[in-house]
Amino acid sequence: MDGFKLTWSVVVLVGLLVTTVNVAAWKKDEFRRCDQSAFCKDTRNREPGSSNLEVKDLKIADGVLRARLVPSDAGGGGTTEQGGGGGEEEGDLVLEIKAYKNGIVRLKVTEEKHPEKRFEVPDVLVKDLEDKKLWLQRFVEKDDGSSMVHLGGHDVILQHKPFQVHVKRGSDLVLSVNSKGLFNFEKLREKKEGENWEDRFRTYTDSRPYGPQTVSFDVSFHGTEHVYGIPEHATSLALKPTKGPNISSEPYRLFNLDVFEYISESPFGLYGAVPFMLSHSADKSAGFFLLNSAEMQIDVLASSWDTTPSIEMEGEGGSSKLLENGNKEKIVDTHWIVESGVFDAFVFVGPSPKDVVTQYCAVTGTTSLPSLFSTAYHQCRWNYKDEADVAAVDAGFDEHDIPYDVLWLDIEHTDGKRYFTWDPILFPTPKEMQAKLSAKGRHMVTIVDPHIKRDDGFPLHKEASSKGYYVKDSGGNDYDGWCWPGSSSYLDMLNPEIRSWWADKFSLSSYVGSTPILHIWNDMNEPSVFNGPEGTMPKDALHYNGVEHRDVHNAYGYYFHMASVEGLLRRGGGNERPFVLSRAFFAGTQKVGPVWTGDNTADWTHLRVSVPMCLTLGLTGIAFTGADVGGFFGNPDPELLTRWYQLGAYYPFFRGHAHLDTKRREPWVFGEPYTTLMREAVHSRYSLLPYVYTLFKEASVTGVPLMRPLWMEFPEDISTFERDEEFLLGPSLLVHGVYSQGATSETVYLPGTQKWYDVKTGATYPAGQKVNVPVTMDGIPVFQRAGSIIARKQRRRRSSTQMETDPYTLVVALNSTYEASGELYIDDGKSYDFEQGAFIHRQFKFSKGRLTSTTLAPVKTGSKVFTTSCLVERIVILGVRAKDLAIGKNAIVEHDERRIETDIGPPLLQRGASSTALILRLPNVRISDNWSIKLV
Ligand code: NOJ
Repeated sequence: MDGFKLTWSVVVLVGLLVTTVNVAAWKKDEFRRCDQSAFCKDTRNREPGSSNLEVKDLKIADGVLRARLVPSDAGGGGTTEQGGGGGEEEGDLVLEIKAYKNGIVRLKVTEEKHPEKRFEVPDVLVKDLEDKKLWLQRFVEKDDGSSMVHLGGHDVILQHKPFQVHVKRGSDLVLSVNSKGLFNFEKLREKKEGENWEDRFRTYTDSRPYGPQTVSFDVSFHGTEHVYGIPEHATSLALKPTKGPNISSEPYRLFNLDVFEYISESPFGLYGAVPFMLSHSADKSAGFFLLNSAEMQIDVLASSWDTTPSIEMEGEGGSSKLLENGNKEKIVDTHWIVESGVFDAFVFVGPSPKDVVTQYCAVTGTTSLPSLFSTAYHQCRWNYKDEADVAAVDAGFDEHDIPYDVLWLDIEHTDGKRYFTWDPILFPTPKEMQAKLSAKGRHMVTIVDPHIKRDDGFPLHKEASSKGYYVKDSGGNDYDGWCWPGSSSYLDMLNPEIRSWWADKFSLSSYVGSTPILHIWNDMNEPSVFNGPEGTMPKDALHYNGVEHRDVHNAYGYYFHMASVEGLLRRGGGNERPFVLSRAFFAGTQKVGPVWTGDNTADWTHLRVSVPMCLTLGLTGIAFTGADVGGFFGNPDPELLTRWYQLGAYYPFFRGHAHLDTKRREPWVFGEPYTTLMREAVHSRYSLLPYVYTLFKEASVTGVPLMRPLWMEFPEDISTFERDEEFLLGPSLLVHGVYSQGATSETVYLPGTQKWYDVKTGATYPAGQKVNVPVTMDGIPVFQRAGSIIARKQRRRRSSTQMETDPYTLVVALNSTYEASGELYIDDGKSYDFEQGAFIHRQFKFSKGRLTSTTLAPVKTGSKVFTTSCLVERIVILGVRAKDLAIGKNAIVEHDERRIETDIGPPLLQRGASSTALILRLPNVRISDNWSIKLV
């Protein structure tokens, strides 16, 4: 073995050791608790009411309400070391209140004296946000010492002394900031003689050159008992209190980390961070987003957390005010502790949960519409060994008649973990390999991580180091950390110039061996550094413009993801939709691409927690998500694997993946009956692709996610507020996983007032109650909502691209008034021509015995058109009256008076299902046309 290969083997060995060691168990002690972080430990115990800021010099300028925040005891001019204590330094805190259309309020507090050191996160807010600004004209000073800004539909009440902000919707108080008096903004200051600002953890020392700069505050959500959001944690959907009587938990931590073998119930931070929290109750929902990418810790406070009396907002309903009927108002108080940066917060007034998500996405962007192929099934493994292995796996899918669209290559495909290269022995002909996949309409994804091997023979490294493109350590040298390739440096993705340079590396000429069907996987972008504090980059490392890593940490992966996506966009001339999966994420990631929930484990608890994890991501705008099907670590038995395929078929992102050390587990490995069961699970996804793609379109317009908590569709149903073992896929399908070995039945809660139809058997179940559903290994409980119409494609093909011209099946699930409706969106599935009108958007309605199809697309949609000759080959009507089923029905296509053959059969040709549906065979109307079909 030559010297290079030897070194390479050592690196692999060390990498494996790191991995295997960590496989053993989650090492809790490797991660900081709040009381081990200088910024968190004291702040967490601040007394309610300790904030003493007051509002001065209120005025409106440029349509924005502005004021100074000064300590009450500093005679109005002095400022403080700790924002709420005695005065030492000059310079005030500056408050700005802005409003945007459709129920969005922005509150910002910055430090007048050090704007350059107080990092404000760029490239998260949508570019046209300021176009939606409402110009504030005036405010009303009230006798009680507050000022009110009326924004048409919602009001902002700014209490002057002490400083508090209350946001109302109509007359309804929805959210308050600092009503508990915890607002504290530590101003930057000179170090005092003898003071030590260093922060030590294990063997690491953070030099903290700028000292304490914590921003902390309380946010109260009124009229509610439930809050959600702030991913990423492996925990329940409804956030449990972390502090209060008899509760002592860590706060929810937002700090992007590569946590090996994370456990399935913990507030510790995982790979991504979205500082967006929502509240929901039967009559209102609200949201709060903090645009800040520093580490933060958030306490959800249990009722009576504060035994001292809270501050009452005179006349406006303080946070624990007694209501007129003597009951205490429902409220959730939260305490946010942020290491650095500014207070730049957005309040969303709802009133519905969908409104709140849409308002949040109006600020941070909606999910970009993915390519159709990427919404199908992906097959991954660390690693498919060589080209022969790739060919064998690809052939295995065909042999076993299981569709799949994308084959993935993990880090071992590279030449020594030098990304954009191929191992010359194992992958000598990458273009030919991709051509073979492409011939079947399939795609490939390769991994490109952010750590660059420090090897002078590696041109990418030479160029990056000579251009000064790496993040610097606190001493100003290229930061050198240990990752898969060994000694590595990390590109400074905060810098737009470096992102642009990186994007060019994805061109077909630069990425030698790549072809247009190759897409990308960004992993380890928290960033993961094996020998760094908590497995990441030191907080005192330095970025572009002298920004400390501490300030930008949670957004680093987002910038890396963004640059890679830009690369694929450029490669496709701007008219091919890129697919780049990322592990790390931040607010706004949805604009860029999908994420997955990282290194889960092949056990039942991880299968279960994948649902609240994906639901939470969806609530915070990131709709394209999924968990590794099968579990990354460990070996699933065939039952667990089958159950995971059955559930994963309903994740927005559906990918099987496995750790290097695990046994092979492609869907045919366990033999029968499992191969058949997994084939059916994958096929169930393929048959739903038209519905799934329509939901992606909706998410791309409104932000409303595909995977929805039940309360998103049934907001008034309080029994759904803590339910997270089941979910809705869009408005019309309810999915309940099976999370235990040997299950023979599941208790499923069916919301609403209309019945639900088992999608396979057509059997009906009553709504508004828990029902006991028998389960076999054939599938998990999935129901179609009465009143909905779902478009499917039932023919089994090798990949989604081969289904393009396949005919549709429409499944009409009638409600109690024998009506139903649904939508279908279609475009070319790959380009941006839809932005110029090249799409079809249909509405189907069943009423009074007639099914109609009309267009939902505006008359003039743009300069391009999309056409399809796809037909409807089958219409399945569920819920037809028993007497009509018994005598059978005739159906007529009204425009040509053509008679259609009808039949009675099982809804989806399911083995053993009873004949409960009226089937219209071969209506052969075009999916893109207006038509009506009448039952006679
Ligand atoms: C960690 C990722 O989470 C995992 O999916 C991947 O297989 C390994 N890195 C190796 O690249």
